[in-house]
Amino acid sequence: MQWGGRFAAGPAAVMQAINASIGFDAKLWAQDIAGSRAHAAMLAAQGIISPADAAAIDSGLAQVAAEIESGAFEFNNALEDIHTNIEARLTALAGEPARRLHTARSRNDQVATDFRLWVRGALDEVAAQVKLLMHAFATRAAEHAASVMPGFTHLQTAQPVTLGHHLLAYVEMLNRDAGRLGDTRARLNECPLGAAALAGTSFPIDRDATAAALGFARPTENSLDSVSDRDFALEYLSSLSILAMHLSRFAEEIIIWCSAPYRLVALSDAFTTGSSIMPQKRNPDAAELTRAKTGRIFGSLMALLTVMKGLPMAYAKDMQEDKEPVFDATEAILLCLAATVGMVRDLTPDTARMAELAGAGFATATDLADWLVRRLHMPFRDAHHVTGRIVTLAEQQGVDLESLTLAQMQAIEPRISQEIFDVLGVAASVASRTSFGGTAPTNVANAAAKWLENLA
Ligand code: ARG
Repeated sequence: MQWGGRFAAGPAAVMQAINASIGFDAKLWAQDIAGSRAHAAMLAAQGIISPADAAAIDSGLAQVAAEIESGAFEFNNALEDIHTNIEARLTALAGEPARRLHTARSRNDQVATDFRLWVRGALDEVAAQVKLLMHAFATRAAEHAASVMPGFTHLQTAQPVTLGHHLLAYVEMLNRDAGRLGDTRARLNECPLGAAALAGTSFPIDRDATAAALGFARPTENSLDSVSDRDFALEYLSSLSILAMHLSRFAEEIIIWCSAPYRLVALSDAFTTGSSIMPQKRNPDAAELTRAKTGRIFGSLMALLTVMKGLPMAYAKDMQEDKEPVFDATEAILLCLAATVGMVRDLTPDTARMAELAGAGFATATDLADWLVRRLHMPFRDAHHVTGRIVTLAEQQGVDLESLTLAQMQAIEPRISQEIFDVLGVAASVASRTSFGGTAPTNVANAAAKWLENLA
């Protein structure tokens, strides 16, 4: 409805409404000004414009930046995008020299450059938050290196593990996320400026100079690819999607662990909300929203993949639709990371409850089978069978494995000795898992210390 009246004004209004990107690409202003300053300096150094013109452009751009920063700048929808808005204001301020700035450049290489710079900055910010979250996880892992909890497969109690081990699993995931962001950055960090509209330029520009001035490792190789490539944004969104998936899995675990039937951990009021009708409720909303925001991050990746998939070389206006998904996903992931850091620091594990549930469901049955293999030299398949009969007996008696008597176990396998009771407890179970990468508290303490050192 907002546009109704303007559409009535005719096709020009419709065109402006669908064509303008200033409503969202104003976010690129700092990158656009940095790109223009580098371009103008290079043009002067190459003798393409005069030093005086370059100086007028440079101080004009500094003033435009100051106006935008102070909020005094008036963005104009009729001027379509951030590039034209800035150039128009620069021309008003600096006059004729400003009209020389667009020599040997096009908005196509300009926007590709600006957007790469923006994504690079966002990527660095996300990577720093990932490191912060890894540190938060490793800190809690060190604290809970020996806290026993149920380990699950199929969400069924499987074997006891330590909470520290569980939390360090996320440090491994996040470390891969950081690696993906780093890989993305390395491929992204090439400068398209100077590709011009699509074919390069006849002016004697120095693309190495502009690339270096903007902190890029090198200029991009092919002018067509330079203006038509958005792989850097897609790789970034792919990396964010996998990261968001990890955060969502942890959020889901928090939600399960906080639920009344589990009660493995509690979150404080800082990360929960109450119910307006049920006074006993404490809802893990921050975790739920972290889980939910994964949807818009995946959606952003799908949106941009779909925009790009049918585009012939080189630039097409479709590519203007690249920005909003990237901006939206960035905002969402930064919020999710902050919320997850907060929850990791906030959560209070109920260690007594964790130990109790760790032993439930005959979680040390594998330890019993392993004992039969180790002490009685039974083949594992036979030990599995004997253990199954002992578990069935415990089930019939309604007791856990530790509460069976020696005589009851010997009725099934006469060679079982009193020593069996050493392995049936959850603490003994986790302590015995000393294989490389296993859950033993000694392993976990060492791994957490190693991470904390790496991340310091
Ligand atoms: N606003 C445009 C974008 O975001 C800038 C490039 C426009 N180029 C063009 N040839 N119309 O993609």
